[in-house]
Amino acid sequence: MDRFIITGGTPLKGTVRIAGAKNATLPIMAASLLCPGSCQIHEVPDLRDVRVMCEILKLMGAQVERGKGYCQIDAWNVASCEVPENLMREMRSSIFIMGALLGRLGRVKVSYPGGCAIGPRPIDLHLKGLAALGAKITEKHGYVLAEAKELRGSDVHLDFPSVGATENIMMAAVRARGITFIRNAAKEPEVVDLQNFLNKMGAKIRGAGTDTIKIEGVTDLYPTNHSVIPDRIEAGTFMVAAAMTQGDVYLENVIAEHTEPVAAKLREAGAEVETSGEGIHVTGRRLKAVDVKTLPYPGYPTDMQPQTMAMLSIAEGTSVVIENIFINRFKHVDELRRMGAQIKIEGRAAVIRGVERLSGACVEASDLRAGVALVLAGLVADGQTLVEHVHHIDRGYEDLEKKLKKLGAQIERIQEVR
Ligand code: EPZ
Repeated sequence: MDRFIITGGTPLKGTVRIAGAKNATLPIMAASLLCPGSCQIHEVPDLRDVRVMCEILKLMGAQVERGKGYCQIDAWNVASCEVPENLMREMRSSIFIMGALLGRLGRVKVSYPGGCAIGPRPIDLHLKGLAALGAKITEKHGYVLAEAKELRGSDVHLDFPSVGATENIMMAAVRARGITFIRNAAKEPEVVDLQNFLNKMGAKIRGAGTDTIKIEGVTDLYPTNHSVIPDRIEAGTFMVAAAMTQGDVYLENVIAEHTEPVAAKLREAGAEVETSGEGIHVTGRRLKAVDVKTLPYPGYPTDMQPQTMAMLSIAEGTSVVIENIFINRFKHVDELRRMGAQIKIEGRAAVIRGVERLSGACVEASDLRAGVALVLAGLVADGQTLVEHVHHIDRGYEDLEKKLKKLGAQIERIQEVR
């Protein structure tokens, strides 16, 4: 497995272009199965999860062509409705196939999805919503079978504003007879991007971005083209990197509004963050401790929690970080401690006492965001840091080390001899 070797101490300076959003790309790729025809998706990031989704779509019978920044998906001949377990286990997003295939074929069989090891990843809200639309759900031997002769519009109230459940139910409801309401829906920008893609196909969806989404079922959908929104978590990651290395970085291809929770927190910690048009300019200095609690959008994103903790490890003072979304998203803490961070965990809360400097060490990435947090810590640590299991990071960051090197970071990828 590949690893990164990082020598800390260089402030990041320069311009970085943010890629298309992983968590918008993946549901949109799955949603293309709803349409008998060829859709073009642009601003597609080159990520391991995108390549896995391409494999899944091909196995379902779609023709998929992927190029630099785009993919074309021709779902004219979608026939298979069973996703192999090995691919389901590769990533959480494989679950989006359920809503799309149920809407297209009325039948889908999947195993429980994989994804980051950040706590149990149940799909009860997904299944409850699909059942409310009339799907018969059978769970046995680790598989879930959903069948529906006809999907019917329904009033679905989510116990929690689950991003994936909102997106899955939305996809199936597009082909249901009648009107569906999703209440207590997730309001993330990626949900809005999915609505926009589906409406371009001929769906009739209103309300994404609010807590109530109305979907009027339609019978016909038509091929379309779509550009995915910029990745607000990649942007937040580079904003935090600029602030904690006391650098001076300009981010291109961002939607400032989507990064506002992170920008506000960085300003509170003493960084300078200016937004203009499609860019964000971050200037860092020795940061002050701040408290953070993760919440559904527009609250502070849980996907920024590990990176923020790395930043607070060297802030002046004591910070409290509360992780409200996932019950086991502190796996980066032990690795940060190996680098000299002073962090105490009490249930969902982490108390971080800032230190002057971290020290380089050999650390292991356990998931996508925990991994990138260790890279950020390595950028400011004394000496060398070795980050193992970089494949976790490759799932969600396109050319991370190239982008960081272009900003002056001393980082090299050591490829494992295969
Ligand atoms: C999406 O995951 C993102 N992944 C995650 O990003 C992100 O952390 C998460 O939303 C929250 O913003 C993709 O979009 C591919 P949820 P998802 O359903 O849909 C519980 C990354 O780093 N829950 O909103 O799985 C669940 O256990 C990844 O890019 C149920 O209980 O998140 C969790 O505690 C990590 N039952 C909470 O809801 C369900 O049926 C939020 O989960 C579904 C979820």
